Amino acid sequence: MQKKWWHGKVAYQIYPKSFKDTTGSGIGDLNGITEKLDYLKSLGVDIIWISPCYVSPLADEGYDIADYYKIDPRFGTNGDMWRLIAEAKRRDMYILMDLVVNHCSDEHEWFKKALADPYGKYAGYFFFEKAVDGHAPNNWRSYFGGSAWEKVPGTDLYYLHLFHKKQPDLNWENRELREEIYKMMNWWLDRGIAGFRLDAIMNIKKALPFEKYNYTPDRDDGMCRASRMIQDAKGLGDILAEMRDRTFKPHNAFSVGEIFNNTNEQIPEFIGDNGYFSSMFDFRETILGASDKGWYDFEPVTPDEYRDACFTTQRVVDDQGMVSTIIENHDEPRGVSRYIPEGDLTDRSKKFLAVMQFMQKGLPFIYQGQEIGMENVVFHSIDEVDDISTIDEYKVAKEAGLSDEAALKLVNTYSRDNARTPMQWDDSENAGFTTGTPWLHVNPNYRREGAKTPVSADDPEIRPVNVAAENRDPDSVLNWYRKLTNLRKNSDYSDTVVYGEFVPFMEDQSNFMAFYRKGEKQTLLVLGNYRNEKREVKLPGKVRRVVLNNCEDFSMKDGVLTMDGYQAVVLDMG
Ligand code: NOJ
Repeated sequence: MQKKWWHGKVAYQIYPKSFKDTTGSGIGDLNGITEKLDYLKSLGVDIIWISPCYVSPLADEGYDIADYYKIDPRFGTNGDMWRLIAEAKRRDMYILMDLVVNHCSDEHEWFKKALADPYGKYAGYFFFEKAVDGHAPNNWRSYFGGSAWEKVPGTDLYYLHLFHKKQPDLNWENRELREEIYKMMNWWLDRGIAGFRLDAIMNIKKALPFEKYNYTPDRDDGMCRASRMIQDAKGLGDILAEMRDRTFKPHNAFSVGEIFNNTNEQIPEFIGDNGYFSSMFDFRETILGASDKGWYDFEPVTPDEYRDACFTTQRVVDDQGMVSTIIENHDEPRGVSRYIPEGDLTDRSKKFLAVMQFMQKGLPFIYQGQEIGMENVVFHSIDEVDDISTIDEYKVAKEAGLSDEAALKLVNTYSRDNARTPMQWDDSENAGFTTGTPWLHVNPNYRREGAKTPVSADDPEIRPVNVAAENRDPDSVLNWYRKLTNLRKNSDYSDTVVYGEFVPFMEDQSNFMAFYRKGEKQTLLVLGNYRNEKREVKLPGKVRRVVLNNCEDFSMKDGVLTMDGYQAVVLDMG
């Protein structure tokens, strides 16, 4: 693997709607991001990915873009964006925009023109397809529920939308469309952004002709999930190579792909030295326990499954490229609520999970609020939820016979709105996120009286979850993340943390997540006791230094370490 400027960095995802509101509108904005750059710098963040902030009706919270060249007035102005880019540069920080080009919004002028002339040039930017025997061309189900086809009014045509009907798919077979997209990408790159995160990119190539790919239904609705077509769509690589050569390469830009449904064999093609992207998210752990039927059929994730998924990613990526690691993002519930078994959530177990992410090989992305240990929230009714995919899953669960209460429990467990509640800055009204009414309610645990997570199994003290309080507390989750970002940049260890070989340790042990990172300067041993009971671990050699430890004790005798529940340590083994 060739070394790249970004390998040793730390990345951070901002969901702008929920980050920091400077106008009192209840919606976060770009000036709010600029205001918090020093905070991010103090956390050790270098690269910032901003979820979409372009003009949008926000049907899918900005992943439905109506103008690729303009910031939505709710988030600010283009001028605010130029200022943000400049202020980031001043601090040696890099801004990534979210590139959503599988689809745009039905309010984009291309789509409006296509509707006005369904056989004209702009219809060719989309998939306007003839009805087959009076029906939609095939039985694909959109990712957000219902058919992926919608009638083009006044015609016998249907248009394709793999996501919501307000997100018509763009036709990447069309050269003019591709040119428009490259032009737009280069326009942003010329304005100083460092690169892009590529949304839903596996979907841009379709299995064609559509009517040939009618699949066996995977639910009683007679449809099949749209992602099924990805394995039959040939030629994705040609498009991605063209995109790379026309945009990223000439700008030496950073790109990270949202990659689902890939094969292991594709990894070098995606992120090898001449890959389509710099890096990719792998997501193996986020689909654990999932079912095609929907949330009502999901199973909880066990510690061993989580470890095995992470280790599989480490093994299959190996040295072929640098994967990007996450615990959560804006499409997932909060990682600490998901991967720490119920009843075991403490500040200590949050720190444990952070060590596991940061010490694996990969570029770590922190999702906003992860660094302070933000947790899932309680929605008391489906009316409190904004997200379209959650509303669909709730409906599916009800149709499968679940009570309102049981369906709501699923929402509280799996909804991506769990990750979208406002960032918790301090203990003032609405956690200092807004002086207005927040668009989604704030998790009450930003104040001590609303918090419920103890420091550890032996220390019942409950501390509020917010930046200001955690800044003051040397033992906070926030300051723990600072230790992890510092270690990644500490010249004594960075080479091992960034490039050291990943080798599992005692993998046959249940509820234990441990591995070596073997570098040229030293070998680090990372041990994580993934349960709430003590465990003894025979160490494989002498410990030169305890580099990190999330507990007060380090109790070692005769080469045997007695670990507390959820203790995580990083040991320099020389
Ligand atoms: C993936 C994004 O992360 C998600 O938030 C969005 O709903 C879909 N792609 C559609 O753009």
